[in-house]
Amino acid sequence: MKSADVVIVGGGVIGLSIAYRLAREGVGSTVLDRGGLGQGASWAGAGMIPPHVERLRTNPTVELRSWSAVLYPEWSAALLEETGIDNGYRRTGGVDVAWTPAEDDELKTSAGRWRAEKIIYERMSPADFARVEPALNPGLRVAYYLPDRAQIRNPRHLKALIASLEARGVDLRPGSGAIGFESTGGRVSAVRTESGPIACGRVVVAAGAWSSALLEGLGIRVETPPIKGQIVLLKGDRPALRRIVEHGKMYLVPRDDGRVLIGATEEDAGFDTRTTPEALRDLLAEARSLCPGLAGLEVERSWAGLRPGSVDSKPYLGPAPGYSNAIVATGHKRAGLQLAPATAEVIADLVLGREPRVDLTPYRLDREPGGLPDPAFRS
Ligand code: GLY
Repeated sequence: MKSADVVIVGGGVIGLSIAYRLAREGVGSTVLDRGGLGQGASWAGAGMIPPHVERLRTNPTVELRSWSAVLYPEWSAALLEETGIDNGYRRTGGVDVAWTPAEDDELKTSAGRWRAEKIIYERMSPADFARVEPALNPGLRVAYYLPDRAQIRNPRHLKALIASLEARGVDLRPGSGAIGFESTGGRVSAVRTESGPIACGRVVVAAGAWSSALLEGLGIRVETPPIKGQIVLLKGDRPALRRIVEHGKMYLVPRDDGRVLIGATEEDAGFDTRTTPEALRDLLAEARSLCPGLAGLEVERSWAGLRPGSVDSKPYLGPAPGYSNAIVATGHKRAGLQLAPATAEVIADLVLGREPRVDLTPYRLDREPGGLPDPAFRS
């Protein structure tokens, strides 16, 4: 491997995907994480992938999302071949559901966007639910079936990325977080850690909710507030659901082995990752009302992660203002897994001095907050 002296601060799905993308081009890196690799927000999602079958260049939001969705099957096959780990990429399809006329109207608006993005969907009344997802409560008003909705098992995907990086000789340093930077003349010369500074030619800050405090040390003010998400895993002895079920920001994701993930809360709780009985109760109650058959499944465990927010729910992707060799990739909020592959592609472009293949203007660190978060998918 060429040594590009690249240090990646943050070993979540974003940092690991960037390291993987660079490694595939023969470029080594050092990945630092204050805790375990991939054990933060990336572990606490469900790995839902939007239903795109082609990369659309309509606008940067759609492009980042659709390109990532198209890259997932490619990355999954490459990781399987290289590591023997199946990350669980499956195009299981999904249903978005509504109870009320107001929720139905929101879905009609989403469906207009899906149509514009050439995403296949079918609007279904309760009489048709059994054809697609028999577990749905027939009292729901409507379901929209998205046959190309996909999923990965995020813990397995993270494991596969780590295995690939280890095999490629990437320097992975869990338990060794960045505590600051040394800089001179508009360049970051080293990343400071508890065990001493690490010299860098380039640095990528992908430290999730901890990015804001780190960047402040470079005089850069960006908000990456932690947004806590609690999630619950149910265990069954046979598959209880066939499709991903979404209701607003709530989701039920069936795995091959009969388990079902239920997520997720959105809480402002600082850096507290404890689960609470109230959240567990509410998640279970909503899941059981959407799919009454889930009442027979046991709770296997519940846990929480801290998603990195941003000023306007869009990620920050691009150069750190005022520094010629520092790049930022954070603030993906609920969409870290979803957007990781295309994020890694464009950050690799920046690290290697190429024109990024997606227009990063809406993701600049110094943008005016504005525009909606990606409105086509809520969870
Ligand atoms: N992407 C799912 C979540 O953040 O809960």
